[in-house]
Amino acid sequence: MIKQIIPATELLAIIGDIKKKGFKTGFVPTMGALHDGHLSLVRKCKQENDICVSSIFINPTQFNEKKDFDLYPRQVDEDIKKLESAGCDYVFTPDEETIYPGKDYSKIIIDLGYSGSVLEAKQRPGHFDGVVTIVKKLFDLVQPQTVYFGQKDYQQCHVIKKLIEYFNYDIKLVLGETVRESDGLAMSSRNMLLNQDERNLAPVIFETMSMAKKLLKEKSISEVKDWAANTFSTEKLINFEYFEIIDADSLKPINSLNEANRIIICTAMKIGNIRLIDNMFVKK
Ligand code: PAJ
Repeated sequence: MIKQIIPATELLAIIGDIKKKGFKTGFVPTMGALHDGHLSLVRKCKQENDICVSSIFINPTQFNEKKDFDLYPRQVDEDIKKLESAGCDYVFTPDEETIYPGKDYSKIIIDLGYSGSVLEAKQRPGHFDGVVTIVKKLFDLVQPQTVYFGQKDYQQCHVIKKLIEYFNYDIKLVLGETVRESDGLAMSSRNMLLNQDERNLAPVIFETMSMAKKLLKEKSISEVKDWAANTFSTEKLINFEYFEIIDADSLKPINSLNEANRIIICTAMKIGNIRLIDNMFVKK
C-alpha cells in the first residue's frame, strides 16, 4: 500500500527510518495530473531502488502566469492510485505553507550559466529559479540517492544537474525517455486542457521534428529551422515560440552537424492557449 505524507515532520521521520535500515531511496518529483510519462519514471525508480518516493506539488514560484497556475489540473486522489499501481511506496503532498512558510515565496537563485539564459529560460523569465527552489527544498527533505527526471523537459534536466553540482549533493540523476501518445504527441499534464481542434493539431510538433531530422541529411541547419518555423507559423491555432537545433551538452546553437557530438531539436509553442514543449535527438 502506498502511504501519503503531508507534514514535512512526518516525511523526515520516515526518511530517517529508511536510512537507519540502510535502504536506498529513489525520488520522482511531479506536479501531479499524472500520465504514463510520470509513471514510467516511477516504475524505473522502483526497479532500481529499495524505496520509491514521489511528490505532488504544484509549485507556484515556477509559473509565469497566474492563469496557467490556476488552470493547472488538480486530481490528487486519482494520482495517488496511479502511483500505487506503478509501485510507489510514499507520496509527499505538502501544502503551500510547508514549502513556503508565511507565504515567503523568495527564490533560491544560483547562476545557471548559459542554460539559464536560453530557450525556456528566455521565454519564461524566473521559471528555472522557481524549479531550483522547489527541487532543492524537496531534495533536502527526501534525501534521495537517485532522482528521476524526464527528457521531455530537457533543459530542466540540465538545470537539475547544475543544482546537484552546485550544492555538492551526492545524488545520481537518471533521465527517462519521453513517453508519447500513439500519434506522437508527448504526454503532458497540459494536454488535457487542449480542445478537440487543438488536440487534433498537436501531433504536428512530433511530425515536424521527425521531418526536420530527415531534412537535415540534405539541408543546412538554418534552412531546416526556417522550414520548421514556417510550418508552425502557418497554422492559425499555433503561436510559435522557437525551434532550435543545438548542441545537446552546451545547449549552444550550431551551424552544422559536425559542430557537436550530441545534437538535439528543442521546440516550444502555444496551441490555442496551451503552451507545449518537446524535443528530439538528432545525434545522441
Ligand atoms: P511535471 O511536469 O509534473 O513533470 C514531472 C516529471 O515527469 C519531470 O521530470 C518531467 O520531465 C517528467 N515528464 C513529463 N512528461 C513526460 C513524458 N511524456 N515522458 C517522460 N517523462 C515526462 O517537471 C515538473 O513537473 C516540475 O518542474 C518539477 C520538477 C516537479 C518541479 O516542480
